[in-house]
Amino acid sequence: MERILIVDDDEGLVHFLGRFFKRQGYDVHSCTGGRTALDYVARTQFDLILLDYKMPDLNGLDTLKEIRKSQVKTPVIIMTAYGTTETVIEAMRLGAYDYLAKPFDREELRRVSADALEVNRLMKEVVSFPSAHNDASADLQSMVRIVGTNRKMQEIYKLIGQIADKDVTVLITGESGTGKELVARAIYHHSHRKNKPFLTINCAAIPDTLFESELFGYERGAFTGAERGHIGKFERCHGGTLFFDEIGDMSLSTQAKVLRILQQGEFERLGGTETLKADVRVIAATNKDLEEMVVQGLFREDLLWRLKIISIHLPPLKERIEDVPVLVDYFVRRFSREYRTPIRHVSEAALGKLKSYSWPGNVRELENCIRRAVLLCQGDVLLEEHLGIEREEPVPPGSVGSHQLLQNIERKLDDLLVDLTGLARREPHTNTFELVEKAFISRVLKECGFNQVKAAKMLGISRNTLRHRMKKYAVLSPDD
Ligand SMILES: Nc1ncnc2c1ncn2[C@@H]1O[C@H](COP(=O)(O)OP(=O)(O)OP(=O)(O)O)[C@@H](O)[C@H]1O
Ligand SMILES: [Mg+2]
Repeated sequence: MERILIVDDDEGLVHFLGRFFKRQGYDVHSCTGGRTALDYVARTQFDLILLDYKMPDLNGLDTLKEIRKSQVKTPVIIMTAYGTTETVIEAMRLGAYDYLAKPFDREELRRVSADALEVNRLMKEVVSFPSAHNDASADLQSMVRIVGTNRKMQEIYKLIGQIADKDVTVLITGESGTGKELVARAIYHHSHRKNKPFLTINCAAIPDTLFESELFGYERGAFTGAERGHIGKFERCHGGTLFFDEIGDMSLSTQAKVLRILQQGEFERLGGTETLKADVRVIAATNKDLEEMVVQGLFREDLLWRLKIISIHLPPLKERIEDVPVLVDYFVRRFSREYRTPIRHVSEAALGKLKSYSWPGNVRELENCIRRAVLLCQGDVLLEEHLGIEREEPVPPGSVGSHQLLQNIERKLDDLLVDLTGLARREPHTNTFELVEKAFISRVLKECGFNQVKAAKMLGISRNTLRHRMKKYAVLSPDD
């Protein structure tokens, strides 16, 4: 269970935060002063610390400095009511992960804390791979492993071993779900930067307008609404490793700035004049063909050359089908431990089916398939019927058939199922169906700019039904 420490002299806030995190199933510890906090930190390892900036005995910044000495990787979120830009910037320089300006609402709290906990997990969960230095027992202890003995995979392990500790840029390519992020994390954990941050930036998930401020930060007043300054990921990641996921989605103007950082280690915050230095190792990943993008003028050739000093290409699962049995065995063991099921064996027929499938979603699809099978399996043998793999219909080359789309949707439902199972276990009276329906309807409405005709069409229900549901769930459009 993940452990959170809350430090604030405002007992009301401590109480509120405590309830907020306990409800989500975290192990919560709290105290009202910096000195006590340091006692806690000396004894217990935390996954997230929320720290008030202004406390009577020892202020947040001094407390932070001390915490940093013993819990190097634990993300610390500074909470400040009196914070000027300088406080926040100073706190982030000292290694705070993020900040919350009081008063903050639940949504902000949820967003900032979820992000920090995710980063914590990525930094602390060691990813190991088979190598000359890794004996089998070390492998068993770590939670995440890169599995597979295919010849190409062995070459990849060798390469990871050779380059992890050198400060070179690495470009990881391969289809979706082949393990690119896993390889990036393995490189990080085997580098001398392993005690420094590992931050991810997903180039496809952030709108272009926000991307540069996210990367480089901005000065106060850089644009309307920038009431305080903001430290970007490059600065926060100083000394560490920055993982550019989906780098093929980065705009050309950002590419130019990233190239400059890679070449000179220099950048400016938006609206700033001071040139800053960042010592950051970059690892990038993409499932796009960057070479082809260069030809089309969508990706800078000089950046591509700079990125692929070392390049690692992960083969799709269908080209290393011999790895399916070991992967299945690994996932069955992992999930039966996680869900406390006694599965000991996978039937021959089931394994045969797994080996003959084409795995368009690669290892991620296999992982989800086994996860679902483990959840559905009643006895100790996993059978064909638990797998939910249908006979494959041929799809015209190059097009995404509706069969494939349906499969994609099902794959995403697998992830949802896992969270819902967790929630239902923790809060048995939750009506999960309504929870999902409400969230889905709200999301679709938002996507359609609250145009009810459009939303109803997308959902395949009548406008009246949509109205009825909106009323039932008290979903309001912005003009209501
Ligand atoms: N060789 C492997 N051994 C064990 N687990 C693996 C392996 N490859 C991938 N996985 C698992 O499959 C899932 C997908 O891997 P990952 O997120 O690294 O893929 P990706 O290539 O980054 O995909 P995308 O392009 O969709 O982001 C993860 O849960 C990962 O742990
Ligand atoms: Mg990925």
